[in-house]
Amino acid sequence: MDLRRLLLAIATASSLTAVVCGNMVFEVHNKLKGREDRSLAAMRAHDARRHGRLLSDIDLELGGNGQPSETGLYFAKIGIGTPSKDYYVQVDTGSDILWVNCVGCDNCPRKSDLGIKLSLYDPKSSSTGDLVMCDEGFCTSTYNGRLQGCKPNLQCLYNVVYGDGSSTTGYFVKDYVRLDQVTGNLQTSSTNGSVIFGCGDKQSGELGSSSEALDGILGFGQANSSMLSQLASSGKVKKIFAHCLDSINGGGIFAIGDVVQPKVNTTPLVPDQPHYNVIMKEVEVGGDVLPLPTDVFDGGDAKGTIIDSGTTLAYLPNEVYKQLMNAIMAKQPGLKLHTVEDQFSCFQFAESVDDKFPVVKFHFAGSLTLTVYPHDYLFQIREDAWCFGWMNSGVQSKDGKDMTLLGDLVLSNKLVLYDLETQTIGWTEYNCSSRIKVKDDNGAVYSVGAHELSSSTTLVMGQVFPVLSLFVYMLHSLL
Ligand SMILES: *[C@@H]1O[C@H](CO)[C@@H](O)[C@H](O)[C@H]1NC(C)=O
Ligand SMILES: *[C@@H]1O[C@H](CO)[C@@H](O)[C@H](O)[C@H]1NC(C)=O
Ligand SMILES: *[C@@H]1O[C@H](CO)[C@@H](O)[C@H](O)[C@H]1NC(C)=O
Repeated sequence: MDLRRLLLAIATASSLTAVVCGNMVFEVHNKLKGREDRSLAAMRAHDARRHGRLLSDIDLELGGNGQPSETGLYFAKIGIGTPSKDYYVQVDTGSDILWVNCVGCDNCPRKSDLGIKLSLYDPKSSSTGDLVMCDEGFCTSTYNGRLQGCKPNLQCLYNVVYGDGSSTTGYFVKDYVRLDQVTGNLQTSSTNGSVIFGCGDKQSGELGSSSEALDGILGFGQANSSMLSQLASSGKVKKIFAHCLDSINGGGIFAIGDVVQPKVNTTPLVPDQPHYNVIMKEVEVGGDVLPLPTDVFDGGDAKGTIIDSGTTLAYLPNEVYKQLMNAIMAKQPGLKLHTVEDQFSCFQFAESVDDKFPVVKFHFAGSLTLTVYPHDYLFQIREDAWCFGWMNSGVQSKDGKDMTLLGDLVLSNKLVLYDLETQTIGWTEYNCSSRIKVKDDNGAVYSVGAHELSSSTTLVMGQVFPVLSLFVYMLHSLL
């Protein structure tokens, strides 16, 4: 199905400061005072042990599949509330809040074809669930100041509109989210953190009645409102995470923490952007660099290229799209393209696409390369029919601004590492059915393996196709 999800303007302001760490180091120092052994190494070890108790590496169970003709999305399982119940949420690096469907909601899906059981969250039936009021710090910082008309006992509301036009409206609640902390090789134990998230009470568009429904969306953006930022500011995790989306077997790996294996090359994130943006320099098709104008990737509101796990396909500026398609077609001059569902360029082909189509390479600042094989950028709709996953963002954006956005189609089968502490992002080709290694604060290195939550991996032909993500914004209002 789908589409996606970019949160363009969620204004955030000042928030909690990280005094936690300062205090902690101070305490450790005090404890060691007066002891015989005050060597730096001992202090560091002690410090690391204390940190280790606080900073967890998290293993999120993934399901889904990035293939446009299959589910077109990836989702994770998280526990919320006391007692904890499981929720399945789409993982989306292009938006900034976690929300789940709530009891009494209007137009919420009740069942899903993804082979998962949907649940509605009820803040009243969780002994730790609480409402968030408009005068609380989270609300004022998320909306960059006190909302007009805010009085005590008025709730903090949210409204997110995603790129496909679907939207979710509701109110913020606070409760415990249960996650799996990595405690050994392929071993986890339960941990939790208090997180503020959206309780959805009205959904529209695809979020309402889609057959591939989920309980909500887990925004993995870097704004302070995301679950990751909240867990990091309460000293639970580092602001580093990685995904390896497996388009072959479905599911894959999603971990929060320091990934030490595989190693990745990185590129800097463009500062002060609401999303994960990087600088693309060149595009190479079958070994030839396209003669693109140097400012071709500067268009649109977003600077650079957006990396977004919540979008299925890859969107390129008009000029890039045209040259890329021409260069690919030059290798297959006999190919007859026809348009499917008004937007996809498709063709009949019975041979191996990897033998007959060129490899595409995107080059980024800092000599990071993203290699995209024909089996990645082409998706199969029948045994002998394929479509291109490249989309022309120039044609689709109403204001003519050309954005570059890379979604699951090109991000799959790679380990993608987002290091918000060093403000870099990197990737490497990887077998997402295998395992990665994460290092915790004690220096212990553990394997984290792949998961596949759903079992429906059959190719469904002619199913709902993906749409694009662009304009997503967050509105705010009061009850
Ligand atoms: C986010 O939180 C950090 C510390 O927790 C704070 O320094 C920063 O100003 C906040 N950012 C915004 C945009 O509110
Ligand atoms: C959170 O985890 C701690 C430590 O395991 C546990 O004692 C506590 O009961 C948990 N709290 C909730 C609300 O799940
Ligand atoms: C990927 O890893 C899995 C699990 O280790 C293994 O079974 C599979 O053969 C690997 N695939 C490739 C292409 O190496």
